[in-house]
Order: sequence, then structure tokens, then C-alpha cells
Amino acid sequence: MNVIEDNSCALVPPCFFIEDESFQDSLDLYQRGYLHPVAISDIIRPDPSTSASRSQDAPSGYRILHKLGEGGEATVWLAQEVDRLDRAVALKIFSAHCSSAAEHEARALKACMASQNVLSLLDDFTFTGPNGAHKVHITEVIMPLKKLYSLLPACAKKQVATDLARGLAHVHRCGFIHGDIHIGNIGCAMPPAFTENTIALTMSLLDRYDATMVILRDPALRSCSLPPYLLDPCDILRVYRYYRGLKARQDAKLLDFGNARRVGEEDADVVRWMCPPPEAAFAYYGCGGLEILPTTKGDIWCLGALMLRLFTNEAILYDSTSIILIQQAELEGVIPPAWRAFWDRNEILRSNTDQVTPEKAEAGWSRRRDQFLQKNPEVDLAEADLLIALMRRMLATNPDVRPSIDEVLAHPWFAEDKANWS
Ligand SMILES: Nc1ncnc2c1ncn2[C@@H]1O[C@H](COP(=O)(O)OP(=O)(O)O)[C@@H](O)[C@H]1O
Ligand SMILES: [Mg+2]
Repeated sequence: MNVIEDNSCALVPPCFFIEDESFQDSLDLYQRGYLHPVAISDIIRPDPSTSASRSQDAPSGYRILHKLGEGGEATVWLAQEVDRLDRAVALKIFSAHCSSAAEHEARALKACMASQNVLSLLDDFTFTGPNGAHKVHITEVIMPLKKLYSLLPACAKKQVATDLARGLAHVHRCGFIHGDIHIGNIGCAMPPAFTENTIALTMSLLDRYDATMVILRDPALRSCSLPPYLLDPCDILRVYRYYRGLKARQDAKLLDFGNARRVGEEDADVVRWMCPPPEAAFAYYGCGGLEILPTTKGDIWCLGALMLRLFTNEAILYDSTSIILIQQAELEGVIPPAWRAFWDRNEILRSNTDQVTPEKAEAGWSRRRDQFLQKNPEVDLAEADLLIALMRRMLATNPDVRPSIDEVLAHPWFAEDKANWS
């Protein structure tokens, strides 16, 4: 169980500059039991108690250089080892209430590290700050796919899809389920020049800091739980371009294993889905908030949804209401029999029944195929058809009829000569 402290609904007092609601939402996460307030150039050192589990030559600490990103469980920073200043790493600081997610992630990353399509975990420890004890994961720096994919030609997107399918096959073979595959949880390896060049050169490319100062209107309320400012993520794409990452072969990796489980494991922890597959969405919305654990077949659906985004730019909307079920059923054009009673009782779903027909689904897929071909004239029709056929199988509403990851990799679209796409 995740422990959420009593003061979880306490709001941060009003600040100058922060009129925007999204800033306020971010700031409300800086309180006891939640995010650690980070300032650039802070040094994060492991608590002495965690030293026992780390190797003797593990760095004594990491200095924060810039922000890389944030998600539902953590903030992620560009950092350098304090004992080896030439080494740039990513430092993920989990919210204090997400230590079980951190444990899921560390366990899965350690078990699956033999694949180059899974993020490498370099170090992990706990440290204590004003908001509590935080798990920290040190990993290689990657280029987030979300900021990259629209710049890639179809052949590079196919490399990304191949890498991810291989990475997922490895994860499943190791007995794990990723449990939260979506575009925000994928990255591509930084080009070799990123590690070969000095951190000073990289930092000269990241000299902009887009910060919103956190200054409480009432100085008496100052609190060490709050960061001195809220920072936007750095322009890592600039670094990726500069080191010629766009010209190189993309080397895609699965990251964020905070939801990962062992196959068949019973576990009462909260499952935080960004992109729930239909069976999880129906359990939640159609069966009174029922939480189901991630499965390998759920991973296949999520990888299918990710490929849809990659190749057609179409995002399946993750509306946090039962409306999500309409879009999921539309992909196949059938309302699953098990959903029917709930569907007919729910006014919004019922009023959209006409949208969910096999004819409309067929028309939707042929529109996607045509748009894809229009944008990628170098891809031939037969191969586009194979890709669409594969995505449709992966996005089947019924998990039992989805292919396994080995079947996905054996599909003719993956086996097809890549030369067609270059
Ligand atoms: N190793 C990394 N290198 C660069 N950016 C990263 C790295 N890990 C995560 N990020 C960025 O930070 C975001 C949040 O990280 P993630 O591991 O998904 O955390 P959460 O569990 O909170 O979702 C990602 O979407 C990505 O943009
Ligand atoms: Mg994430």
C-alpha cells in the first residue's frame, strides 16, 4: 500500500507569479510525503544507511545540473557524479509516497538489464530531505521519444518499434510485465558523442533555464518543503541534434518500470495507469473502481497504442472517465458482450452506440492507412497494409486474441525487408 500522509490536501499558500493553475498543481506536490524540492547545483548524497547495498566504488553523490522531466511519481534531473565530474547521468527522485513504485522499478530494471532496449540502472539509493525519504535511481540519459518522434522518417520509426518489441520480448522472457507502456515512457539512447564530449560542452547547449520563482506572498509562511523555483525541462533535443542523434540509428529503450510486476504476482499496490488497456479501463469504470493488475497482454495493447501514435500521430485519449471506453471499442467496432449491460446503463456510452460498428472501424483504419501513405510516400502499399493489420491485432479489445510479443516479432511486418522503408 502507498502511504499518503494526512496533510495531502493542504495547499501551498499563494505565491507571486503563479497564477497558472498547472503551476499551482505542480507546487501542491511539494509537501511532506511528496516531492523533494530540488535546486540547480544541489548535491544529492545517499543516506549512510543505504551505503551497505551499494558497491564500494559507487559515487558519493551527484550534483544536479538541469531538469530532464517529470511524471506522476518522480522528477528527473540531469546530474554529474561528484567524484567523476565527466560523467553525466539521469537522476530520478521518487516522490516519498511512491517508494513501492521505485522498488518495482529497481527490481525489474535489475532483472531485465541484459537488453539494450531496457534503460540501464547504474545506481540506486535512498536519501532523506525535508519532505521525507526518497528513492533515487541513477540511469543513463536518454532522448524522450515524445519530443523526438515527429522528426523521424518512417524507417527510423520502424527501428524504434522493432527495438521496443525486442525490449518487451526480453522483459516478458525475464518474467516481468512493464505495465505502463506509453509515449512518455520511451526514450532513445543519446549518441556516443554525448559521453565522449565534456559536460561543459553539453551544458553550453543547455544554458537556458526556464524558471518560475516560488515567492510566497506572505514571507512568514516560508517553508523548506517548497523548491526555490519551478523549472521547465531542458531542451535535450538540442543536445541530441548537436551530437548528430537524428542522423544515427535510433536505439529505443523502455523506461519507467514503476508499474512493473512479475508475471502472476499477487500484489495489493496501487496500479497507476497512464494508458490502461480496455480490460483495465472497463474493470475500473464499469465495475465500480476495480483495479486489475497489469498483464503481458495488456502490454501488447499498450505497445499497439504506442505504435498507432508513432506512425499516425493519433493519440488514444486518456480521459479519466468512462468515455475512454468509446474510443477503445471504436478501434474494433464491437462493444464487448461483457461491457453491454454497463454500456446500456451509462448515458454517454449509450448515446455513442452508433459510433461503434464494424463498418465504421473499417473506415477508420482505411483512413489511417491512407493518411500514413500520404505522409510517407516512400512506403509501399503492401507494407502499410501489414503494419495496419499488425496494429489491429495488437489493439484487439479481447486480451485473449491479442498476439504474444514473440508472435508480434514474428509478424511479416517486422520480418519485411527494411530497405523498403529507407
Ligand atoms: N533517463 C532519462 N533521461 C532523460 N529523460 C528522462 C529519463 N528518465 C525519464 N526522463 C523524462 O522524465 C519523464 C518522467 O520520467 P518517468 O521515469 O516516466 O517518471 P514517472 O514514473 O514519474 O512517470 C519522462 O517522461 C521523460 O521525459
Ligand atoms: Mg512515466
